Amino acid sequence: MSHADDHEGTRRDFLYYATAGAGAVTAGAAIWPLVNQMNPSADVQALSSIRVDISGIAPGTQLTVKWLGKPVFIRRRTAEEIEAARAVNVADLPDGDARNDNVGVAPATDENRALDETGEWLVMMGVCTHLGCVPIGEGSGDFGGWFCPCHGSHYDQAGRIRKGPAPENLPVPVAEFVDPSTIKLG
Ligand code: FES
Repeated sequence: MSHADDHEGTRRDFLYYATAGAGAVTAGAAIWPLVNQMNPSADVQALSSIRVDISGIAPGTQLTVKWLGKPVFIRRRTAEEIEAARAVNVADLPDGDARNDNVGVAPATDENRALDETGEWLVMMGVCTHLGCVPIGEGSGDFGGWFCPCHGSHYDQAGRIRKGPAPENLPVPVAEFVDPSTIKLG
C-alpha cells in the first residue's frame, strides 16, 4: 500500500456516525474543556468532519454531539418554535449578526440561522459566548430557547442572545445535509 493510500484509509476510519447512543453528551452548566488550538492532537484533526444520524431526533427535542472537543446542539424544532423565532424583529436583538459560518455576515434572522428552509433544523455550537459554559436547552430561559446558568444568559428559539452578559449569538458551524437523515458537520 502506498503512503497516499494509507492516508486515505486512515481518514475514512475516522469518518464515523455519531448516534444518540454513542455521541450524545449531557448538556449542563459545566465548563467545557478548552481544546488546545495551537497543537491539536491527531485524533482532533482527523475528526474535523463528522456525520451525525438525525433519524432518531423527535420534533421538540435536541441531540448533543461532541465535535472538535466541543458540544454541538442539533435541535429539531416544532412549528411553534419556528414561528416564534421568525416573528422576532432583528433590530431588537443585542447581536444583529447571524453568526452562521454557512452564510457569512448576514442579519440574524431565523432564516439565516436555520439549516434548512423550513427552519425545522437548528445546528449550533453549544458553548455560551460569554465565558464558555454549556447552556441548558429544551425550551429553557425567558425566551424559550437556551439558558446559561453560569451568569444568566438567555438565548431564544434560534439560539440568539436576548438577555444577560453573553455578547453574541450561539455560533452556527459549517453544516449540511448529505441525505435526509444525515447531517455533516465541518
Ligand atoms: S458563561 Fe454563560 S453566562 Fe457566563
